[in-house]
Amino acid sequence: MHFPQFPRMKLRLALVVLSCLLSIVTGLVLGRPGHTSATATAGHIRPVVGLSLDTLKEERWQRDRDNFVRKATDLGADVKVQDANSDDVRQVADVQTLITLGVDVIVIAPHNGDAMAKAVGMAREAGIPVLAYDRLIRNCDLDLYMTFDNFRVGELQAQYLVDALAKIGPGKKRIMRLYGAKTDNNATVFKAGQDKVLRPLIDSGAIEVVHEDWVDDWKPENAKKIANAGLNKVGHNFDAILASNDGTAGGAIQALIEEGLAGKVLVTGQDADLAACQRIVGGTQSMTIYKPLKKLAEKAAEYAVKLAQRRPVIATGSYDNGQVQVPTVQVDVVAVTKDNLKETVVADGFHPAQAVYQTGQ
Ligand code: BGC
Repeated sequence: MHFPQFPRMKLRLALVVLSCLLSIVTGLVLGRPGHTSATATAGHIRPVVGLSLDTLKEERWQRDRDNFVRKATDLGADVKVQDANSDDVRQVADVQTLITLGVDVIVIAPHNGDAMAKAVGMAREAGIPVLAYDRLIRNCDLDLYMTFDNFRVGELQAQYLVDALAKIGPGKKRIMRLYGAKTDNNATVFKAGQDKVLRPLIDSGAIEVVHEDWVDDWKPENAKKIANAGLNKVGHNFDAILASNDGTAGGAIQALIEEGLAGKVLVTGQDADLAACQRIVGGTQSMTIYKPLKKLAEKAAEYAVKLAQRRPVIATGSYDNGQVQVPTVQVDVVAVTKDNLKETVVADGFHPAQAVYQTGQ
């Protein structure tokens, strides 16, 4: 399942070009049969892009929205944004609304990667192409998937932990693992990346997983409950919490604060949320993963506008969603600790130094 897999890409939707020079497979995603030129038929002067988001509660999704809308608008499109507030029924209804409004393309960041297959089917029936944003939509006839290297996110989180645990000294290390939402395909891929690094150490007995669970809806309060349960089980006898993102890391750290353990055990994260960067400076969180959201959102806006105009886009790989090999574009990620916060998150303009360093030293 780990990207990139480069099996055959579907002839009807993709023209595969093998680049000898670059040694990569490049897919040209073309307008599909059945996708009418909605721009022409609906008489739009400007292409209209529908953006259906799972949630806007976490900082990262607000950034995704803002960057996406700004870029698409710059490219001459109008964007209609829907926020499903982590509700599958509502997100399917949101897509129905976008279809009714006559949008030319729909971009979906799904709450539930399975439930949204229905929405993709509805859009396809209406002749509207669909781009899955950041999270995969499984078992449906998706046009394009644009995301980060999610497997690498998991590998980097686990590798950081393994290296940092080794510095504590010899002996078995005990960790808690907080996975993401089971309904989010990314959570499974993060875990697979983590497993690749941890499995040999768990098998050899060098690392013991003392408590683990999936965090419903990625909610910090659910993460806190899981960390509380772990603390009840093992007391203070553990070395690290492998949290899959910054929101859940924040919840777990609340539980640690109540036990006087914050800053004494390692905690991972992901997203480079401002609060997480401040915790890294303050010493209660150990690392995060920086995902250049602007790059992904702007590229997705560019590709969405092209799909809206039924122009071809270049995909650099493909991803098996259970039904089709979905043409896929991936963006790289970076592990961030106190040591490289300035050179990554701050240097990239993701957060101003003043905000990141307003707490801690
Ligand atoms: C995203 C993460 C995010 C999480 C919770 C995942 O699908 O890739 O960046 O932290 O969802 O919203």
